[in-house]
Amino acid sequence: MTGVRERIEERAATVAVIGVGYVGLPLACHFTKAGFRVVGFDIDEDRMKSLQRGDSYIDDIDDKRLERALDNDFVPTSDPEKLSEADVFIVAVPTGIQEGEPDMEAIRQASQTIAEHAPDREILYVCSSTVFPGAADEIVRPALQAGGRRPGEDTLVAVVPERINPGGRYEFEDIPLIVGADSDLERTAAQKLFNAVTVGTAPVTSTKAAEMAKTLENTYRMVNIALVNELARHAEEVDVDIWEVINAAGTKPFGFQEFYPGPGVGGHCIPVDPQFLTWLGRREGDPLRLVEQANVINETMPAHVVDQVETGLGARGVPIDDASIVVLGLTYKPNVSDIRNSPAMAICENLCAKNATLTAIDPYVDSTTLANDQIEPENEIDRDLIADADITLLLVDHDVFEYDALEDAPFVFDAQNALPTETAMPVLRLGDGESLSNAHSRPASSATSSTTFQS
Ligand SMILES: NC(=O)c1ccc[n+]([C@@H]2O[C@H](COP(=O)([O-])OP(=O)(O)OC[C@H]3O[C@@H](n4cnc5c(N)ncnc54)[C@H](O)[C@@H]3O)[C@@H](O)[C@H]2O)c1
Repeated sequence: MTGVRERIEERAATVAVIGVGYVGLPLACHFTKAGFRVVGFDIDEDRMKSLQRGDSYIDDIDDKRLERALDNDFVPTSDPEKLSEADVFIVAVPTGIQEGEPDMEAIRQASQTIAEHAPDREILYVCSSTVFPGAADEIVRPALQAGGRRPGEDTLVAVVPERINPGGRYEFEDIPLIVGADSDLERTAAQKLFNAVTVGTAPVTSTKAAEMAKTLENTYRMVNIALVNELARHAEEVDVDIWEVINAAGTKPFGFQEFYPGPGVGGHCIPVDPQFLTWLGRREGDPLRLVEQANVINETMPAHVVDQVETGLGARGVPIDDASIVVLGLTYKPNVSDIRNSPAMAICENLCAKNATLTAIDPYVDSTTLANDQIEPENEIDRDLIADADITLLLVDHDVFEYDALEDAPFVFDAQNALPTETAMPVLRLGDGESLSNAHSRPASSATSSTTFQS
């Protein structure tokens, strides 16, 4: 039997993807497309049955694409015995934060399952989940060893953090991937594998460096968003429009990258991964104060939006517990169905707790997936509903929303700068001090139905 590198080169290697979700399913499809046989293993039997039927549950993979993968030897399964057929194991299971500590339990379990079921020959283990710097050393290698594998010898170990952006404009194959491993042998094996499906790989000399590079990417984004969120709140105090300020600063051709404020950060990465670093900083007795503080600023944004809405309604004589509110968008970002850590959901829950009457509109969200039964999203914007509501909150700028449907809205809060600056209806814009003072001082009766609204 040849080594795993040769089997990868000859496309004779079977690739097992462990955890077939937002990250794992696209990976499985790309490897089948590149000519590898792929086993997709997931502990969620319903998900695997759905894939076997040809029903995708991931926005970025439609049923046609899944069908092509199934035709090309993609085998979704919940049977760990099938892992004995694989040469390469790519782990894409969930990771998270529980009470301030990294939750790496799924990584440990997946590593243990691989050790128990992998064939007795050289294999390649790749961690594509986002983990804290040092997780391969502290969790992966010990779990493999406990299962009788010899990391660095019969089990090559690499960390190749996933960089996809669901709903975003970059295709998987156009994004280079960082490949970290502690030896040349392990690194070149992983590079050969990922060079088959992506535009290129960026090697680093340890698994820890790759883990840290991934957490740096998401921390950079989180900290910069916190910076503009903090400045947005300052702009509200000093009567400046932060959106105008950012666009002006963005004309500088170097040294500045535009980030925009919003109602908070959500999803499974930006609010979570930087906490791997802050936890590590505290554990090592060297707290990362900037990152800690940035997290706090973003976490307080949903409550800030609720405060602004309450103040705006109060200025119009509508107490929050008597207010009828329409919310546009529940997901954590536009054009996806993912509501994990969504600031829009946090805002809705906060408003429900204040006894406001709420109607949410989000064509991407199925009410059965929501824990809060007070929020039952409608699919389409209803003009009459908006005209009758005391305020409409624009929280997520889905492409399918047509904002001329807001023409008759008596009052709008725009958290995304999605509406034109000149509208006849009063619009409170997050981070726009001028809009706040206008909306707060403008009597409710000045809302007019003959608007000059342009979408
Ligand atoms: N979603 C993204 O956009 C994105 C982008 C980059 C990185 N990541 C990272 O990738 C990892 C996976 O994220 P995701 O969004 O794909 O998660 P997900 O929840 O969509 O999918 C994970 C899958 O793993 C399965 N699973 C859990 N434990 C398992 C086990 N022991 N064995 C086999 N399967 C198991 C779950 O049933 C689920 O289907 C996380 O670390 C995440 O931070 C996610």
